[in-house]
Amino acid sequence: MIFRNSFLACDPSFLIIFSPKFLGVLLLHKIKSLKISGVDCLPIIEGGKGVGVTTGVTAGHFAKAGAVGTFSGVNADYIDENGNFIPLVYKTHTRRERHEELIIDSIRGGISQAKIAHDISGGAGRIHMNVLWEMGGAERILHGILDGAKGMIHGITCGAGMPYRLAEIAEKYNVYYYPIVSSMRAFRALWKRSYHKAVTLLGGVVYECPWRAGGHNGLSNAEDPNAYEDPYPRVAEIRTFMNSVGLNEVPIIMAGGVWNLAEFDHWLDNPEIGPIVFQFGTRPIVTEEYPVPLAWKKKLLSLKEGDVYLNRFSPTGFYSSAVENEFIRELKGREIRQVEYRSKAIDNFTAEIPFGQRGRVVFIKPEDKAKVDSWIQAGHTEGMKTPDETLMFVDKSKAAQIVTDQINCMGCLSQCRFSNWSDKEEMKYTTDRKADPRSFCIQKTLQDVRKGIDIENQLMFSGHSGYRFATDSFYDNGFIPTIQQLVDRIMAGK
Ligand SMILES: Cc1cc2nc3c(=O)[nH]c(=O)nc-3n(C[C@H](O)[C@H](O)[C@H](O)COP(=O)(O)O)c2cc1C
Ligand code: SF4
Repeated sequence: MIFRNSFLACDPSFLIIFSPKFLGVLLLHKIKSLKISGVDCLPIIEGGKGVGVTTGVTAGHFAKAGAVGTFSGVNADYIDENGNFIPLVYKTHTRRERHEELIIDSIRGGISQAKIAHDISGGAGRIHMNVLWEMGGAERILHGILDGAKGMIHGITCGAGMPYRLAEIAEKYNVYYYPIVSSMRAFRALWKRSYHKAVTLLGGVVYECPWRAGGHNGLSNAEDPNAYEDPYPRVAEIRTFMNSVGLNEVPIIMAGGVWNLAEFDHWLDNPEIGPIVFQFGTRPIVTEEYPVPLAWKKKLLSLKEGDVYLNRFSPTGFYSSAVENEFIRELKGREIRQVEYRSKAIDNFTAEIPFGQRGRVVFIKPEDKAKVDSWIQAGHTEGMKTPDETLMFVDKSKAAQIVTDQINCMGCLSQCRFSNWSDKEEMKYTTDRKADPRSFCIQKTLQDVRKGIDIENQLMFSGHSGYRFATDSFYDNGFIPTIQQLVDRIMAGK
């Protein structure tokens, strides 16, 4: 890190230069516009957020402010020509058929959101679309929206999985593409396998800090969720690789834990980092234009450090970061209330317990019997089998809800741990694993949280810097800025 803070080391007058006033001037001088998706933009990107958290309205306002707005192409709401939201009411009965309905609705929804963003932006800034590679029918949805919204979407951002085919889709529609990665190794694999064939449209590489970012997190099996790693050396490593293959001018987009640019002063004008843009995911949620309930915004404004942490309950199998609330506590309870079992008495699995309505028995270790009895006495009477040969205990109403949610699956993911859905025909639309009752239907809860239905009992994704709302004077007295005000504030380094 030879260039880090080098202006301090080599300038004998640094004591004067280092006064807060001059530092502010220096910083402002260093925050520069740069070419994003083909035009000069402020170095600020709105992090895309599904389901329906970033929309044509939010993206349009970020773009109008001269930055990059990102609407979510994940099951986007369809808004008709008259501006009315047309909810998807499923007409079919199997999850496979509902999956088809969801794809068709997502395509028309995404096109309608792109039009809204385009109209609001008035041609300023840039409009990007975010999708999850692991969403059900991801490629069909990308093709459908890009085909129907030509000229209105300038870039596509895609994470959650290894989107090898993103480059060829981008080439077909002549849009820039932005893979989201959490390490140099992931980008190098994408580059070697496919992206080197589509260099000119690679708009940037998003480094999403897997320990701090909101939403799903790309921690690899080798990485310890409790051992946070500073993004600086990880991003510098990506830059070194990018330079080695001639991508010196392609920006890196730093996402996850970015609150203000003053804290990234040493990243600016720094050859170890190269051209750099910053993505904000959690902070924009508290703006007037965001279509989430006031209760969600207020919750963010009141968070304390430690209220957001990594968990591994998502049906995608990825880690994710969310606000601790009753929803997360209930899932933690399910994780605790489980014991290993066997269908037959073998080895030390000798203690009988009744299972299911027909009163069959399964076998657990004698030393686990007292635990199970105490859970049952506390009302967690229903044992449910997991794919890991454990029995998990919940009360009757929770057990019924889990089963209902599994039956109502609409195939929103490419593979779902909770319902065992797979969108692959060759897999006969199932993962072939037992459905896992320790997880949940992410489609249902993300739809409900943004509608404001009982938000304490829904999944509320958030980045780990969410607690900073409460300590940042910008938000004093519950102030909720507009997107323009937030962009101005970020550009002032604050
Ligand atoms: C509520 C919420 C939903 C998100 N949904 C998505 C998503 O659908 N796709 C995606 O690529 N990233 C998603 N993210 C991640 C953001 O785009 C962004 O990269 C991340 O929040 C940056 O970290 P920060 O929250 O510390 O700013 C989500 C984040 C939040 C907080
Ligand atoms: S159970 Fe829910 S989260 Fe899983 S694929 Fe079905 S709709 Fe999606």
